[in-house]
Amino acid sequence: MIPRYVCNFNTENLHNISTDVVVIGFGIAGLYTALEASKNADVVLIGKKGLMESNTRFAQGGIAAVTAESDSPALHRHDTLLAGAGICSYEAVDALVHEGPDRLQELITYGTRFDKDEDGEYELTREGAHSERRILHAQGDATGAEIVRALAEKVKASPRITLFEEHFAIDLLTENNHCSGVLVMKPDGKIIAIRSQATVLATGGAGQLYRYTTNPEIATADGVAMAYRAGAEVKDMEFIQFHPTALCYPDAPRFLISEAVRGEGAILRNIHGERFMGNYHELMELAPRDIVARAIVSEMERTNSTYVYLDITHESEQLIKHRFPTIYEFCLTYGLDMVTDWIPVAPACHYMMGGVTTDLNGETTLPRLFACGEVSCTGVHGANRLASNSLSEAIVFGHRITARLATLEKLENNQNHLHENLSTQKGYNVMKERLHLQKLMLRKVGVKRDAKSLTDTIDQLEKMHAIYGLDYTTQEAFEMKNLLTVALLTARAALTRTESRGGHYRLDYPEKNDTDWCVHLIQSMSMGLMKERASQHVVE
Ligand code: SIN
Repeated sequence: MIPRYVCNFNTENLHNISTDVVVIGFGIAGLYTALEASKNADVVLIGKKGLMESNTRFAQGGIAAVTAESDSPALHRHDTLLAGAGICSYEAVDALVHEGPDRLQELITYGTRFDKDEDGEYELTREGAHSERRILHAQGDATGAEIVRALAEKVKASPRITLFEEHFAIDLLTENNHCSGVLVMKPDGKIIAIRSQATVLATGGAGQLYRYTTNPEIATADGVAMAYRAGAEVKDMEFIQFHPTALCYPDAPRFLISEAVRGEGAILRNIHGERFMGNYHELMELAPRDIVARAIVSEMERTNSTYVYLDITHESEQLIKHRFPTIYEFCLTYGLDMVTDWIPVAPACHYMMGGVTTDLNGETTLPRLFACGEVSCTGVHGANRLASNSLSEAIVFGHRITARLATLEKLENNQNHLHENLSTQKGYNVMKERLHLQKLMLRKVGVKRDAKSLTDTIDQLEKMHAIYGLDYTTQEAFEMKNLLTVALLTARAALTRTESRGGHYRLDYPEKNDTDWCVHLIQSMSMGLMKERASQHVVE
């Protein structure tokens, strides 16, 4: 039912551009990988908005890497594996924790300024399920923005990177069973083909699958959908991370209130003012994210409320304003003063643990296609990502990708004529259907799911399929096709996994079942949905 390409085109009639490497996405994964790759190759870097607009820009908490004497890669690995609930790739996690510190130094060399204390040492914070303070941050709670600022400056200055802002990647081009570039819509609506020796997806996440998300508008799951249509395998799509504390206030967006706020001592209270996390986990507010998110939902249900409170009023005004300037100012614009007021919060979709399957070099199952950052499934996160591991994952695997790119054999014949013919019929209200999908996912494939809610979702999503056959050349329509594809991949995997683990909680199967479900669910156009044994051993 899903066509190979989502628009009509014929490369014979298009403007074709050739380069060594195309990188798609302006977050940390895209910027860093483009910079590293440009040391040896010509790179075209494209993104659907401006250079400064990505999910990374909104990252608050920070970047997790071992820098303190009291910490060690083994401890970081232990915390990551434990959060991942038994299905991380041990090798991928090992790469993350051992290579993270060197990659962090490179970010610093690229100009990122992390916060330091008065003795000139990096200030380290803590977030849920970390046994140590190991998270570096910048400008208090604007870590992502600072990283993007530094990398974007280098990208603009790089003679070997050609930057295409406001260019929308529609589909990956494939020929002779490899990826040979990407079909792109320019700001004027014209379509071009960029032919490359290698293509790197760094398109970020899928927050827009849900009505409430901490992600920006651009997080529409484009990379996973494109890779799936091109024949690559995707994995672990049932595992969606809901951030426990997004602002929940009339007319305000679901703005992220960093877990670092709890790391610095904030407590959660229900609408009666009672602290409740002690009823759910011994680590209280710093329990793993999935546990805190579910506890909040249970407490909201129990008290018949749509939010709980985050209370940091016992901390000093100076600490709050110094550590959380962005959050403080944002809340204040809605009349909420963190120094004196409890902040109303509720869970919101935050991160996709699954994605396009990669090996330890970031290579997907489709030759010459790579994936880096949230779009990828390297195996680092398993069923539940440890806070602040995503920025480190992007640079560790971005580096590995560039090492692999340097060994790729050059393809001479990479320019076959490719085309698609869809019906030119119209008659689909894209924005209405998108809202319907987002509400459906929130209500039925959210923090808690069951067989009935999932079956119902799949039925309803399948009824929206008409859009696939239609040739709408607008960004909104392409995004809707991508969201629909990835919503189905998520719901089908969630229905299949009849147990609860990490970011996937089934009301009808509330227990973790290691005997039957230490597996990954992999999906591809050619094979459908299959189980694959997970490699991680159980961590206590
Ligand atoms: C946060 O600051 O709470 C988010 C950090 C993350 O998702 O890693």
